[in-house]
Amino acid sequence: MHFKSVIPTLALAASTYAASSSSSSSDVCSSSVTATSQSDLDAIAGCAVFKGDIILSTGLATATLNGVESIQGSLTATNITTLSSIAAPVLANISDTLTLEILEALTVANFPELTAVENLNLVTINKIDSINFAAGISEIDSLVVSDTSLTTLAGIVPTSLSLLNINNNLYLTTIQFPLKSVDELDISSTANSLDISFPDLTTAHNMTFRDAKTINIANVTSINSTLSYVNTTLSAVDLPKVQNIEGTLAIVSNSQLKNISFPVLQSIGGGFQIANNTNLDNLSGFPVLSSVGGAVDFVGDFDQAILPKLNTVRGGVVVDSDAEDFNCSSWNSLEQNNGIRGDSYQCKAKSSSTSIALTSTKTSAASSSQATGATTTASTSKNVAAAQYVLESTSILGALAVFVLQFV
Ligand SMILES: *[C@@H]1O[C@H](CO)[C@@H](O)[C@H](O)[C@H]1NC(C)=O
Ligand SMILES: *[C@@H]1O[C@H](CO)[C@@H](O)[C@H](O)[C@H]1NC(C)=O
Ligand SMILES: *[C@@H]1O[C@H](CO)[C@@H](O)[C@H](O)[C@H]1NC(C)=O
Ligand SMILES: *[C@@H]1O[C@H](CO)[C@@H](O)[C@H](O)[C@H]1NC(C)=O
Ligand SMILES: *[C@@H]1O[C@H](CO)[C@@H](O)[C@H](O)[C@H]1NC(C)=O
Ligand SMILES: *[C@@H]1O[C@H](CO)[C@@H](O)[C@H](O)[C@H]1NC(C)=O
Ligand SMILES: *[C@@H]1O[C@H](CO)[C@@H](O)[C@H](O)[C@H]1NC(C)=O
Ligand SMILES: *[C@@H]1O[C@H](CO)[C@@H](O)[C@H](O)[C@H]1NC(C)=O
Ligand SMILES: *[C@@H]1O[C@H](CO)[C@@H](O)[C@H](O)[C@H]1NC(C)=O
Ligand SMILES: *[C@@H]1O[C@H](CO)[C@@H](O)[C@H](O)[C@H]1NC(C)=O
Repeated sequence: MHFKSVIPTLALAASTYAASSSSSSSDVCSSSVTATSQSDLDAIAGCAVFKGDIILSTGLATATLNGVESIQGSLTATNITTLSSIAAPVLANISDTLTLEILEALTVANFPELTAVENLNLVTINKIDSINFAAGISEIDSLVVSDTSLTTLAGIVPTSLSLLNINNNLYLTTIQFPLKSVDELDISSTANSLDISFPDLTTAHNMTFRDAKTINIANVTSINSTLSYVNTTLSAVDLPKVQNIEGTLAIVSNSQLKNISFPVLQSIGGGFQIANNTNLDNLSGFPVLSSVGGAVDFVGDFDQAILPKLNTVRGGVVVDSDAEDFNCSSWNSLEQNNGIRGDSYQCKAKSSSTSIALTSTKTSAASSSQATGATTTASTSKNVAAAQYVLESTSILGALAVFVLQFV
């Protein structure tokens, strides 16, 4: 377009420059460059395809990479206090890495034609609102956006990523990508109201969300490692299509969370932790969950935590609620049915008369014999030591369960 007509002139200028500096244009276009002035960049303007790395260096105030359409290598600008503007008007792709890092004066960055880059690192750039990626970078493998003042990631439109790490971007309030799959995802931006939307995402390896107000990943069907929500301001966690989580599911310290819904989740391969979500009353949003490969750890102030289909927990179980209405019945049933394969089971309820602790190593003859006793009425406070727990069991079945637990 506009730029195309400029290229021959630039190419000519560059080859003239190359001739005058007595190196052939193929050398110029295939050896890495460290640019300390604009003329170092002008020297490669004849290289539509540049093979090597282009490193911008101290001394540059503005940098314009004219003429270069393709870099088979990396483009790097790191720790240049003077650099306020960077532009690559015709650059369409970078085979390796584009790094903009520690650029405290950078206010303008223009990459209007860029559509492909293997790794994109935007790190510690605190004066810039947005980067012009007008053509849309759709081919990208790894994206890191850390400690920036960016208010938008418009123009970054990945469909598949092996790494997505977005953290400490105080002004970034929306992250919306047409992402279909991701391996490692870690989002912990500190903006108070971050909306995340990956409506097309179906598969993910490992996802950690911190500090988000809304997250739409409603089309995810499988997670082959861990899913964590920590310290978010989400009011709901709703994953209507996830059937299996092969790793751990952790939902911790989400102060506004009121509703968890995993209507088709059948198995969790790792641990299952729901803790310290101060407004979460109901942990029963797992109607078909039948197995947990690791430990269960539920701590909080919840009235209800009934998982009707749960029949196997391979690790231990801790269920501990401060709420008046909570009782341990359903967990006691699981334990009595030998559904807990780990070496411990504790369920603590505040005002109900139930509190149980068992370990295969610690269960003493004394507690076993208690198990044959009648219903207990121990009303335990939250901080009661494990040794003080008594085993609630109204039937011989309970005692049998203890016996079996000890020898698993
Ligand atoms: C940035 O460069 C300055 C000198 O130019 C140096 O003192 C400083 O350590 C560098 N910072 C980093 C993080 O590399
Ligand atoms: C990189 O961009 C150049 C110039 O537009 C194009 O000819 C080339 O096919 C592109 N290469 C890749 C791998 O996208
Ligand atoms: C799930 O994907 C379908 C098809 O791509 C789309 O129509 C729908 O809006 C997505 N759901 C959500 C909640 O975004
Ligand atoms: C999860 O999926 C990713 C990408 O498909 C794969 O590389 C990885 O090996 C898988 N991990 C597990 C534990 O299945
Ligand atoms: C998941 O990702 C986090 C951070 O991205 C990492 O610390 C953790 O080790 C990963 N876990 C697994 C099981 O891959
Ligand atoms: C939650 O955030 C607070 C304040 O930023 C921090 O002190 C705390 O450690 C975080 N909790 C977790 C579980 O990460
Ligand atoms: C929780 O979310 C599910 C699914 O969105 C919904 O059906 C249910 O009514 C919600 N429950 C509450 C108490 O908001
Ligand atoms: C939950 O909060 C309690 C008390 O603040 C703390 O001791 C515990 O470590 C927290 N649990 C998690 C999983 O963050
Ligand atoms: C808790 O959630 C479950 C499943 O969504 C629902 O059936 C039950 O009525 C809820 N309990 C309360 C006390 O809201
Ligand atoms: C325990 O709580 C459940 C649901 O909240 C309730 O249906 C049940 O009757 C309670 N059991 C006891 C023994 O209080």
